[in-house]
Amino acid sequence: MANEAGSSRGAAERLGAFRRAFPGTRTPRQVFAPGRVNLIGEHIDYSDLPVLPMAIQRGVSIVYSPRDDASVRVANEDARFEPRAFELSPAIPPAGRGDWSNYPRAAGQALAQRFGTLRGFDGVVSSDLPASAGLSSSSALTVATALALLDANALSCERLELAQLCARGEHYVGTQSGAMDQTICLLGRPDHALKIDFAPLRSEPLPIPADWRFVIANTHVRAEKSGAAQEHYNARRSECRDALRTLASHPGLQETPHSYPELLGHHGVDTLLAWAEERLEQQLQRRFRHVLREAARVESARNALLSRDAAAFGRLMSASHASLRDDYEVSCPELDDLVAIARSSDALGARLTGAGFGGCVVALCREPSVPTLVEGFERTFYSRRPAADATTPNVIVARASQGAQVGALE
Ligand code: GLA
Repeated sequence: MANEAGSSRGAAERLGAFRRAFPGTRTPRQVFAPGRVNLIGEHIDYSDLPVLPMAIQRGVSIVYSPRDDASVRVANEDARFEPRAFELSPAIPPAGRGDWSNYPRAAGQALAQRFGTLRGFDGVVSSDLPASAGLSSSSALTVATALALLDANALSCERLELAQLCARGEHYVGTQSGAMDQTICLLGRPDHALKIDFAPLRSEPLPIPADWRFVIANTHVRAEKSGAAQEHYNARRSECRDALRTLASHPGLQETPHSYPELLGHHGVDTLLAWAEERLEQQLQRRFRHVLREAARVESARNALLSRDAAAFGRLMSASHASLRDDYEVSCPELDDLVAIARSSDALGARLTGAGFGGCVVALCREPSVPTLVEGFERTFYSRRPAADATTPNVIVARASQGAQVGALE
């Protein structure tokens, strides 16, 4: 498979790990599912408003061999994650909270509900994506498992449908996330970002100008999707629902809006924010303001990308960060530090990416500024706060990459 992660660790090494974990099984195949960096449109996918991510060159691989029964046995090359086994069914019992196998279980349950009886696989998972860093390693694992299961059962499923299945299926772990991560993981395109719309799910590839660089910097503050961040995440989602429900009683609304796209389809942002001031308490007003303005920023960012206006795109990223920090309250001091460092090191804009509460920032610069930006991060941030784990990179210069692929182990 033609991707960096697929080839950076040799196929022979991955095959060796598979043979050690599962001696005597059939010739394995492999799947690679990329992580993603969201460029703009944060915490609005679950309100069915558009987002603008790209798939990156790092991701999750599974080397697997189909079984003749319904068992899934998964080992992980990362020794922190112990081997696990479960039976495929439409109601798979979860492992404990935070257990890594809940993502494969989520995929297995979603596919069993959709396709009925399935055969399982023996697989070894490896990843070169930092975990709990906002780069979607968990959804990459869900998607990789789903693709391995489809392949093991000679089933096909259209990618938009599969993205929805995986997104809904992942609620199994307890986080009420939207469908951004699974969609970009399946539909990513080299050299393109995707504008993704929801309800109905659809995507528009947008070319990234050749001299733009999106540089990811990791706070090394872990934001565990199935851990502490989960509660905050789910609370934001229900606040968005509450805001919509409460605003529905405003006399300016002739018909009850059932969704944010419907609301924005009928009324301008300024009108809605004025109504929100009358009807919503302070905290809900702030959440609502983030949602509406972030959706508008995604449209502007699309235009900036199409007109190759890097300065405008960067300003929108910085405005998005301020809104996530002040109105949506999902930032943390380390994320704010990295954003400030980026902006004083030649970046045109920077923001937290993913759910926040830790994880990574993404900064935009032009290609010649990459060394200045990386040096700025190293000198000002990482010299004081080195990563606890030396194998986790501080900085990744992202390359917009292909969505998940399945194939022979070459
Ligand atoms: C996580 C979720 C996504 C999205 C982002 C925030 O990555 O999985 O659905 O809500 O957070 O934008």
